[in-house]
Amino acid sequence: MLNGKKSLFSGMQATGTLHLGNYLGALKNWIELEDEYESFYCVVDMHSITVRQEPAELRRKARALLTLYIAAGLNPEKNCIYYQSHVPAHAELSWILNCYAYMGELSRMTQYKDKASKNENNINAGLFTYPVLMAADILLFQSDIVPVGDDQKQHIELTRDIAQRFNSIYGDVFTVPEPYIKKTGARIMSLQEPTKKMSKSDENLNASIFLLDDSDTIIRKFKRAVTDSDNEIRHSSDKPGISNLIEIYGIATGKSIAETEKEFEGKGYGEFKIAVGESVAAMLKPVQDRFYELEKDKAYIDSVIKNNAEKASYYANKTLRKVQKKIGFPERIR
Ligand code: TRP
Repeated sequence: MLNGKKSLFSGMQATGTLHLGNYLGALKNWIELEDEYESFYCVVDMHSITVRQEPAELRRKARALLTLYIAAGLNPEKNCIYYQSHVPAHAELSWILNCYAYMGELSRMTQYKDKASKNENNINAGLFTYPVLMAADILLFQSDIVPVGDDQKQHIELTRDIAQRFNSIYGDVFTVPEPYIKKTGARIMSLQEPTKKMSKSDENLNASIFLLDDSDTIIRKFKRAVTDSDNEIRHSSDKPGISNLIEIYGIATGKSIAETEKEFEGKGYGEFKIAVGESVAAMLKPVQDRFYELEKDKAYIDSVIKNNAEKASYYANKTLRKVQKKIGFPERIR
């Protein structure tokens, strides 16, 4: 709770580009939360350096991500969209929480095990304590809910454990957050392996539609989408490729599964795939137009970055000061 309002925190890595699954399964649904919650969407650039980054590229991607969030419809007056590295309280609380997190529990994190196996020559300490920084992110804002994908559930569990552990020693300091995983939200699958979720880390670029793909690219990727060979446009669990396309088409056009099946009865996959591509291109067009417009308005984006870092710092520092006091750090002399 913040200001008598429930609060929400989510973080996103600036590495990798937002894709259709991020947009339809997450981002687009978050817009409706902005009045009910005091909302924070943080570009977690401090998390990004747990894997080696090219500095100019990291800076560019972080700004693009922040801009894209606004372009997708999150109002930056209502949603605090900011860079993690601009708010030092993240690092400060993270250090403190490191002393309340156990080696054993951190070594059980599946994302750590996964990333460590993929970066054998750079298993740095930051990669190991990544979830503690994440706990600090969430707990700084007394977050009630944390909208995330399924893959982050274990990290939220750990955050809850750390919060409860801390509270049991020092009294009610932190709100214990709940993961917010929309079950009814769209689950957009890979266009190349339709039994897998569309993923930022997929190396096959044809597997994902990125939010800034131009319409030719979008249509080309849909044309190449992997489907079965019976050429019948029908939603069925044994037809994951076509079912995924039917669902995407449904979201882009507002048509139900039955309506789509009827519309394309007797027609082939080729024709259907082009229709899906065109509908998605049309859906993303306004977001893209807005993105390129915003990108040109450097002063505006800069003002959002500055104002929101100040707003985030204000709330984060309140929690941090409380924590510092509880654990016995000396009072500041003013
Ligand atoms: N680890 C998250 C991811 O990879 C990103 C993240 C960092 C995050 N801090 C967070 C998500 C806090 C939710 C809340 O997607």
